[in-house]
Amino acid sequence: MTTFWSVYICVLTIGTLIGLSWLLFATRKGETKGETIETMGHSYDGIEEYDNPLPQWWFMLFVGTLVFAVGYLILYPGLGNWKGLLPGYEDGWTGVHEWEKEMDKADARFGPIFAKYAAMPVEQVAQDPAALKMGGRLFASNCSVCHGSDAKGAFGFPNLADNTWRWGGDADTIKATIMGGRMAAMPAWGEVLGEDGVKNVSAYVRHDLAGLPLPQGSSIDLNAGKQAFETTCVACHGSNGKGNALMGAPDLTQPAGFIYGTSLAQLQQTIRHGRQGHMPAQSELLGNDKVQLLAAYVFSLSHDNQEGKTAQ
Ligand code: HEC
Ligand code: HEC
Repeated sequence: MTTFWSVYICVLTIGTLIGLSWLLFATRKGETKGETIETMGHSYDGIEEYDNPLPQWWFMLFVGTLVFAVGYLILYPGLGNWKGLLPGYEDGWTGVHEWEKEMDKADARFGPIFAKYAAMPVEQVAQDPAALKMGGRLFASNCSVCHGSDAKGAFGFPNLADNTWRWGGDADTIKATIMGGRMAAMPAWGEVLGEDGVKNVSAYVRHDLAGLPLPQGSSIDLNAGKQAFETTCVACHGSNGKGNALMGAPDLTQPAGFIYGTSLAQLQQTIRHGRQGHMPAQSELLGNDKVQLLAAYVFSLSHDNQEGKTAQ
């Protein structure tokens, strides 16, 4: 807070307190003690107001609130840049310190356990029921918003429990994906191929690569689609359409792994406008040790023939 705003707040707050105190004491002066039968002289629908002083307890209540306000403003942050006399509010009103203390406590408690798993290969951690349980909890709080609580994904978010992978499903690649995040870039082809070109290549992907049926009687040139694929798509998706994990280009012969849909309309949409799936990096947020547990958990989901797997 700048000095100007700090002074502004102090003047406003202290001024208000002084003003209220004055009001309280000034109006009490000159009041007659005890009950009177005098009225204030006005009458509304026959209802009149006695000119009695404020009862003592009521008056003290007001004084109490003023004393409380002054005490509070001395002890806690409130008056501009004043931090209060009590320790722990150096940054003003924030729960950051409490949170940091909690985190430090958790680190002290779980740090050695995490370190033990961090020193093991991910595949081996994936055999440890206790580690998988922790990984499952981390997944629920950090990943399920996008990948679903069962890790089976949703539109635009890949299924992590199956065996199709965009970036690779070996333990180290899974960990690298989670640590560093991924940025997929499927270019838009609408302008390059034209509307017919998009329709033909979409049909080629759906029928010849993904092995799904085409609607009856559609005027589609699969050969032209194949040709377009071979000139424009193989660079990333490979000559047989099996994808390229280095750039996250998915295997187009595995429709179960498509995240943007397999209908002709959805394929056309993807090819016409492109797609940019973004997996956010977790290295800063969670750190290596937690990501190790997450990688083991994700790995275990598609390698469930090992012993000790816990269903989460
Ligand atoms: C520069 C590399 C590159 C080229 C060239 C390219 N793609 Fe892609 N494609 C990708 C990437 C990367 C993705 C993943 C996008 C994502 O996950 O958001 C993708 C995704 C797709 C998908 C969506 C799959 C899903 O999961 O739903 C289809 C379909 C597709 N591409 C078809 C094509 C076709 C057809 C062509 C040629 C006209 C083509 N791509 C050219 C890189 C490329
Ligand atoms: C904001 C949404 C979001 C969150 C949160 C998120 N992811 Fe992802 N994740 C994605 C998207 C989108 C992709 C696909 C990127 C692409 O198009 O290639 C992805 C891809 C992945 C992949 C690669 C899948 C493959 O087929 O290669 C893994 C592994 C993964 N995420 C694990 C995780 C884990 C573990 C967490 C929790 C720490 C997590 N994700 C949190 C959106 C998210």
